[in-house]
Amino acid sequence: MPPLSNLATRDVETLVHPYINLAKFRETGPLIIERAQGVTVYDSDGKPYIEGMAGLWCTALGYGNEELVEAAAAQMRKLSFAHLFTGKSHDPAIELGEKLKEIAPVPVSKVFFCNSGSEANDSQVKLVWYLNNALGRPKKKKIISRMKAYHGVTVVAASLTGLPGNHRDFDLPLPGILHVSCPHAYRFARDGENEEDFATRLAEELDALIVREGPDTVAAFIAEPVMGAGGVIVPPKTYFEKIMAVCARHDVLMIDDEVICGFGRLGTMFGCEKLGFQPHSLSIAKAMSSAYLPIAAVMMPETMYQALLAESKKIGVFGHGFTYGGHPVSAAVALKAIEIYLRDRIVERAAALAPQFQARLGALNAHPLVGEARGLGLIGGVELVADKKSKRAFDAAHGVGARAVAFAEAEGLIVRSVVGDVITLCPPLIISAAEVDELFDRLTRAFDKTLDWVTRERITLE
Ligand SMILES: Cc1ncc(COP(=O)(O)O)c(C=O)c1O
Repeated sequence: MPPLSNLATRDVETLVHPYINLAKFRETGPLIIERAQGVTVYDSDGKPYIEGMAGLWCTALGYGNEELVEAAAAQMRKLSFAHLFTGKSHDPAIELGEKLKEIAPVPVSKVFFCNSGSEANDSQVKLVWYLNNALGRPKKKKIISRMKAYHGVTVVAASLTGLPGNHRDFDLPLPGILHVSCPHAYRFARDGENEEDFATRLAEELDALIVREGPDTVAAFIAEPVMGAGGVIVPPKTYFEKIMAVCARHDVLMIDDEVICGFGRLGTMFGCEKLGFQPHSLSIAKAMSSAYLPIAAVMMPETMYQALLAESKKIGVFGHGFTYGGHPVSAAVALKAIEIYLRDRIVERAAALAPQFQARLGALNAHPLVGEARGLGLIGGVELVADKKSKRAFDAAHGVGARAVAFAEAEGLIVRSVVGDVITLCPPLIISAAEVDELFDRLTRAFDKTLDWVTRERITLE
C-alpha cells in the first residue's frame, strides 16, 4: 500500500466517514475529489472520472451548472436565511411548494420541507402517528417496510431501512417497525415461479402480516419504486398493484419513497408513474435540487393535512419542524432545477437514453462474473457472483465488489458497491449517448480485471 498523501492523512486523522470499514480505511485513505464539470469529476491529482453514481444518486443535472450556481448566489444576496417556524415564510418556499403540487403524480394538498431523505421519512412516520391520533385510532401505529429497503439513517428511517448493517449494534429496528420480504425475483422467487406469481406471494405475505398483527395496529407501508441502495431491485410485474390492493383493504397508507426515483430517474417525473401506482404521500430529496444544496420534502394528501389541522388545533401547536426546512437558498436552487427539468425535457431525455443504457447493462449478463445485471430507466445494478448457475455469492470477506470499484476507479469511472457485491450505476441524467458507451466500456474493463484478480487469487469461481 503506497503511503497516504498529506491531505489523505489529515482526513484519516480528522473525519469519521459513513459506509466504510473504518479500520481498513486507515490504510487505504480517501479518494479526494477536487472539482467537477458535466458528468466528470477530477481527483486531487487532476485525474478525471465519469461520475457513474451522480454522487450519491443525486446530481441529476451534473456538475458546474451555472444556472443553479446563479440561482443560489442571487437568493443568498437577497435573503440568505429565513425560516418557516411560528408563522414566518418566504417567497422561494411558497413558490417551490406550489411547483411541487403542480408536478405531483397524485393530488397533493400540502408540502412539508426538510433537509434530507432521512428527515423526510422520519417526518412521514411522525405525521402518520399524529394522523391516527387525530382520527381517534391510537393503536394504528405500526409501519411495514421491506428487507433491503433503504430509507435513511436517523433512528426511525434506519429502522425502516431493511439492511442488517444499519441495525446491528445500533439497537434497531425500533419496536413497531416490521419488514416483509424483498421483491427480488432473481434471489427470492421460487423455482418455476414467474414474476406475477412471485408478486402474488409477496402481496399474500403482506396481507398475512397485517392480519396477524391486527389491521387496527398497522398504519402504513413504505416502499421505494425501485430499490436503490439495497442493490437496485426492480419489483416483479404486478407487484405494486397487488400491494396497493392489500393496503387499501386494511386502510393502510402507502408512503412512496421517491428520494432516488423522483425527478426523472426512471424516465418519468416520479417513479410511481413508471411503476403504475398511486401512493398517499411521497418523500422527495436528492435530485430535487440536483444536490447543489440539501433540501427534501414530504408531499401529503388533503386527508393528512386535515388531520394535522385538527390535532394541532387540539394541542395548540404542530410541534415538528427543522431550522433549515425550506431554506430559501436551497428552495431557490430546487425551483431552478425543476425549471430546467421541465424546460430542457430532461425526463424525456432520460427516457430516450434508457434503451441504450439498459441494452449495455443487459449485455453484462454475459460476463463470467455477473449473476444478474438489472435496472430501469437510467439506474442499474450488476450483481457479481462466484457461480452463475447456482447464483452462489462470493464470501463477503473477499471484498469482490469493493475490488471491482477500485478497478473501475483505475479506469476512470466512479461506481459503488453495495451489500452482496452489487455494483450500482446511476449517472447524471444529462449524460450523453457517447458517455453512456464510455461508462460501460470502462466498467467492462474493470470487470475483466476483477475476473483476472479473482482467478489469480484463487477465489473460487466455478
Ligand atoms: C430511497 C432513499 N430514501 C432515503 C434516503 C436517505 O436520504 P439521506 O441520505 O438524504 O438522509 C436515501 C439515501 O440514499 C435513499 O436512497
